[in-house]
Amino acid sequence: MSKICDYSAPFQKFKEWFDEAQAHKEIIEPTAMCLSTVGEDNKPSSRMVLLKKYDERGFCFFTNLTSRKGRELKNNKNVALCLYWGALGRQIRIEGEIEKVSQKEADDYFASRRRGSQIGAWASKQSHAMRCWSDFERRLDEFTQEFDDLQIPRPPFWSGFRVKPQYIEFWQEGEFRIHKREVYKKLANDGWQVQMLYP
Ligand SMILES: Cc1cc2nc3c(=O)[nH]c(=O)nc-3n(C[C@H](O)[C@H](O)[C@H](O)COP(=O)(O)O)c2cc1C
Repeated sequence: MSKICDYSAPFQKFKEWFDEAQAHKEIIEPTAMCLSTVGEDNKPSSRMVLLKKYDERGFCFFTNLTSRKGRELKNNKNVALCLYWGALGRQIRIEGEIEKVSQKEADDYFASRRRGSQIGAWASKQSHAMRCWSDFERRLDEFTQEFDDLQIPRPPFWSGFRVKPQYIEFWQEGEFRIHKREVYKKLANDGWQVQMLYP
């Protein structure tokens, strides 16, 4: 059995759950989500990233474009996200395609980061092999000196991605594993088909 609902419905539900997770004292990192990408060899890989903004266009995270995930996203736009809030017994799964955020969105978010993280973004060749730790420390020192007390611009190799959802599943833990799963699948007319799945 399924029904049709309007475009904003799963985003409203996401907001309700996300707000509750953010307000929950035991949930230390409510924005942490597992991001899965697919490599050129067709094999998946997963890692955690932070959800930095979301709206009805999708769910955004930021990263180094030359990292493994950055390279995989260039070749294959299909991704999956998974958020888990244990203290609430909730999981949200999101699947869809990514698009790059606008230059302004990336600039604005980069500008909001702490200076140490901005320098780290310049100094880290994320996911590339490191000869030794002192090489990285030297790069951190070099960029610290280079930027001195100047405003630090966003590196050209650092930006954000928006996951445009096609599938959103809300999972609520129940006693005796009688969990509730509610799935939203995007329709061509921009509405969503909603249905329950057996746990
Ligand atoms: C809780 C948590 C949050 C993280 N958030 C980010 C993030 O927002 N962006 C990012 O590039 N890496 C983040 N990382 C590091 C990634 O998990 C990963 O190690 C790094 O991005 C390199 O991944 P890749 O080699 O697949 O590109 C986070 C790690 C953890 C544990």
